[in-house]
Amino acid sequence: AESTFTGPRKVLLAAPRGYCAGVDRAVVAVEKALETYGAPVYVRKEIVHNRHVVETLQEKGVIFVEEADEVPEGALLVFSAHGVSPAVKDLAESRSLQTIDATCPLVTKVHREAVRFTRDDYEILLIGHEGHEEVEGTYGEAPDNITIVNGPWEVDDLQVRNPEQLIWLSQTTLSVDETMETVQKLRERFPKLQDPPSDDICYATSNRQAAIKKVAPQSDLVIVVGSENSSNSVRLKEVAKEYGAARAERVDYANQVDEAWFQEAATIGVTSGASVPEVLVDDVLRLLADYGYGKVEEVVTAEEDIVFSLPKEIRKALTQAG
Ligand code: F3S
Repeated sequence: AESTFTGPRKVLLAAPRGYCAGVDRAVVAVEKALETYGAPVYVRKEIVHNRHVVETLQEKGVIFVEEADEVPEGALLVFSAHGVSPAVKDLAESRSLQTIDATCPLVTKVHREAVRFTRDDYEILLIGHEGHEEVEGTYGEAPDNITIVNGPWEVDDLQVRNPEQLIWLSQTTLSVDETMETVQKLRERFPKLQDPPSDDICYATSNRQAAIKKVAPQSDLVIVVGSENSSNSVRLKEVAKEYGAARAERVDYANQVDEAWFQEAATIGVTSGASVPEVLVDDVLRLLADYGYGKVEEVVTAEEDIVFSLPKEIRKALTQAG
């Protein structure tokens, strides 16, 4: 197969891309649980929002459930990287489940903020996508005290109890630019609005967006590898478009890449979401090479060296196993 474009062709590969420390930790936790306790291991919701990861774990004996009440009494249940509300933990405990909490530490941080600011009598505006698992979990820490704000368009109609005692928090995987826009609109309406003590949008989300912002303006097409329900992957596609990619597409697998997308393309940008194993990116690069885009330049905007230790329940089991 050949592109009809006959000039020089190349790929700009964004870095950082792919796995973040929280996803790596969650996937390894499930693998270690399988090794230590044997199949089946139950996982509440998708451990991370990636089709390939979920299907691979299913083949190894993981059973994914929607809720803790689907798990047999006393069995082993892993909570996904996106976190759970206290109500979910209570439900698991009421069924005497053995649990492993694979919630990303950076999500746990937002949960702690929600608890602390509620205790300090602040009302919380949680910027995030209603219905996303992470938002459900954080909201569940103080449902009477948190209002979810989906985006800037919701600011005008917001009702608050006391505009003097307000703080905003956010989901970890949002668009940095859109969140800043929401905060600005919120501040116009509520000048006393307080900022969180540190960014809730995590390092991995902001780094991946920063990298694609550099790649997109130089690309005729940007391909984002990542699943449809992966918030940070979907944001990468949006950011690529906003920053000038003539076209941006998201795929789970290389076989979803459509050659019609790059008929006229000289430069193709490639990136992947925080839940995407690098093998899936390699597949896309191989396919692009087949079409004449064999020259790959990496565009590096940051180095990442963050690693999280495994969930404590797994560390304990591994120590006991010697
Ligand atoms: Fe955690 Fe951010 Fe990854 S919140 S799971 S490090 S995308």
